[in-house]
Amino acid sequence: MSTPVSGFSKLSKAEKISWITEHYFDGNLDATALLQTYWNSDSKLQQLHDEFIENTISNYYLPLGVAPNFLINGRLYAIPMAIEESSVVAAASKAAKFWGERGGFKTEILNTKKVGQVHFTYTGDPLLLKEFFAIIAPKFRQDTKAITSNMKKRGGGILDIELRDKTAEIFNYYQLHCTFNTLDAMGANFINSCLEQFAKTLEDNFENDSRFRESELNIIMSILSNYVPECIVRATVSCSLDQLTEKGIEGREFAEKFVQAIHIAEVEPYRAVTHNKGIMNGVDAVVLATGNDFRAVEAGVHAYAARNGSYASLTGAQIEDDVFTFWIELPLALGTVGGLTKLHPLVKWSLALLQNPSAQELMQIVAVAGLAQNFAAVKSLTTTGIQQGHMKMHLMNILNQMEATPAEKKAAVHHFKETPVTHSGAVSFIENLRS
Ligand code: MEV
Repeated sequence: MSTPVSGFSKLSKAEKISWITEHYFDGNLDATALLQTYWNSDSKLQQLHDEFIENTISNYYLPLGVAPNFLINGRLYAIPMAIEESSVVAAASKAAKFWGERGGFKTEILNTKKVGQVHFTYTGDPLLLKEFFAIIAPKFRQDTKAITSNMKKRGGGILDIELRDKTAEIFNYYQLHCTFNTLDAMGANFINSCLEQFAKTLEDNFENDSRFRESELNIIMSILSNYVPECIVRATVSCSLDQLTEKGIEGREFAEKFVQAIHIAEVEPYRAVTHNKGIMNGVDAVVLATGNDFRAVEAGVHAYAARNGSYASLTGAQIEDDVFTFWIELPLALGTVGGLTKLHPLVKWSLALLQNPSAQELMQIVAVAGLAQNFAAVKSLTTTGIQQGHMKMHLMNILNQMEATPAEKKAAVHHFKETPVTHSGAVSFIENLRS
């Protein structure tokens, strides 16, 4: 049993590792060696990674894959995907090829507003606060000039600052609800810096206003919101029903079952969560590969999926006049400048692979990755079922767990072409080979 450590962050990397090995691995040096195996031999590159976070002891690898042949608004993309789950990249590639042969993906940006809030309490007359807010409103912009001037020059900045009375929900609670256009930056630092200055401006002017001698204003916090229901991208695919006929399944039959599956995800939260999880397989993989904050995207997307009071599908589908249409609408606050974009070599590479997109272009690519993933999943689910494809991909994981040699892998892949893959089947196949 370990005891609490103090000053851990001050220890050198080697000291941290030896403390961990001693306290959590009974001093077994294999634990140390493993961490070292994952260090980068280029010490400059390793230092860069060390400095991304605190208490770094090693690197945690994820595979970076590429799904080619995405035709988006007439332009071909190869999409980088960082993800550990087998089948996802294969499914994306398959959907890309399928829709590439049927006109490709069409996308549009519906809005790009980002939100931040200053949360505060105020004990006085609400009308007086409203009046005061109207008078000091220009000061919020004046006092943030140093922060906003660059962004403003490029066409972005503060859009709106609104006083919201939230006292019906919490006693004495008010907000400055603020919207921003952060152009190609995700904008977290920009927004948070503006908000903290807004809070200061609010507090200072309040304190200097004699009408408020009897009342109190307390800033609770100032922070951006990862809920961005007005930063929305839409991606669509569409084709005639007869273009969907494939492998002996009539286009109309396929489309009707597909639309039914989407309707189920619109009304049934148990299905909607898994349905959207499949979408996020594609979304997160691209978000991660391009150095964006996938936790922010996840939180915002799921809140959006529940915006009508019940958790529902992020995609929609319909058949009209013998045309099948399938679409997704996603709230995405992404950046292609700032953050890790220039720092992490593979992020830089991924953005270069995408031809250095603007944030709006990246939103469109990410939405397409989500739509493609959902198409592939629902197509499999409503036709062959997913296990067939999944287990084939999973076979490699089982073989790797068993440390199969290249020859064993080749034999197993050949054998399971004709035989359904099961975990026990794969294990006994290798054991039989070995005996
Ligand atoms: C697995 O990672 C994702 C799926 O479950 C998504 C879905 O069910 O739509 C296949």
